[in-house]
Amino acid sequence: MQTKVSLQSEIAGVKFDNLMLNAAGVRCSSIKDLNEILNSQAGGAVTKSATLEEREGNESPRMKSLPLGSINSMGLPNHGFDYYMAYVLKEQSEGRNNIIFSVAGLSIEDDLKMLKEIQSSNFNGLVELNLSCPNVKGKPQVGYDFEAVERVLTEAFKFFDKKLGLKLPPYFDLTQFDAMAEILNKFPIAYVNSINSIGNGLVIDPATETAVIKPKGGFGGIGGEYVKPTALANVRGFRLRLKPEIKMIGTGGIKSGMDVFEHVLCGADLVQIGTAFGPEGTPIFDRISQELEDIMEEKGYHSLDEFRGKLKTL
Ligand code: FUM
Repeated sequence: MQTKVSLQSEIAGVKFDNLMLNAAGVRCSSIKDLNEILNSQAGGAVTKSATLEEREGNESPRMKSLPLGSINSMGLPNHGFDYYMAYVLKEQSEGRNNIIFSVAGLSIEDDLKMLKEIQSSNFNGLVELNLSCPNVKGKPQVGYDFEAVERVLTEAFKFFDKKLGLKLPPYFDLTQFDAMAEILNKFPIAYVNSINSIGNGLVIDPATETAVIKPKGGFGGIGGEYVKPTALANVRGFRLRLKPEIKMIGTGGIKSGMDVFEHVLCGADLVQIGTAFGPEGTPIFDRISQELEDIMEEKGYHSLDEFRGKLKTL
């Protein structure tokens, strides 16, 4: 049946038939995982954040599902930069441009090295620089070091003229939104993706009096329903402060069409689904698309533009 509403969206000239993608990290480490996403109702796929070298990640158990979400301390297990570079180039040569290449250096030098390699390659899709992984032992989240963010962007944009987005951690004070937006607005960034997990939470099994995951003494990133209000606040907070050319991706707490609707109301151009995608797999994109279409039809909206960023306040 012909649908009456469109879920199409666009960032930096890259068109997506559906605004929903996976979030980097969940079911996107292998070519098989990525192809499954691309063959689903999702609008595109995001690679697991690549480090320069392949990584095993942290020791298990390193992820635990919880009543309202999850805690994880995966530690960036991935096949390494070359694996994902070869994949995105092959897909691009076959006409696909809806894959976001996520990279997460273990240092600013690594970030710049990977961006240099992308710059000198034929890849011309969206690149997501992950400045917010909370789970690499001994490495703080760059997104909380505002000087470091400015430094990496200053260095990157000396040579990088492709489409660069940033995956940021959640911020909690409006002065942080102000300060970060002031930095980001100085650069030709394609988009900001808010939020990564709320880092370094601690979940305990009271029966055994034990932390539920092993790495870092049980500290890990919190995702799912627990984080939705924080995610919405970050999307809204940045949308109100960033120049209009910088688009927004909303990530955090999405498990229904209404959650996507709320992210778009806050200003999201695309959304990414992490925690809920884990157990449900690719059928989640069908289900949530249908739910969102039903909401839009009921409200009389035909496109996302009609309500994007139009949250009312009291
Ligand atoms: O630990 C991890 O692999 C998570 C990465 C992230 O949150 O960016």
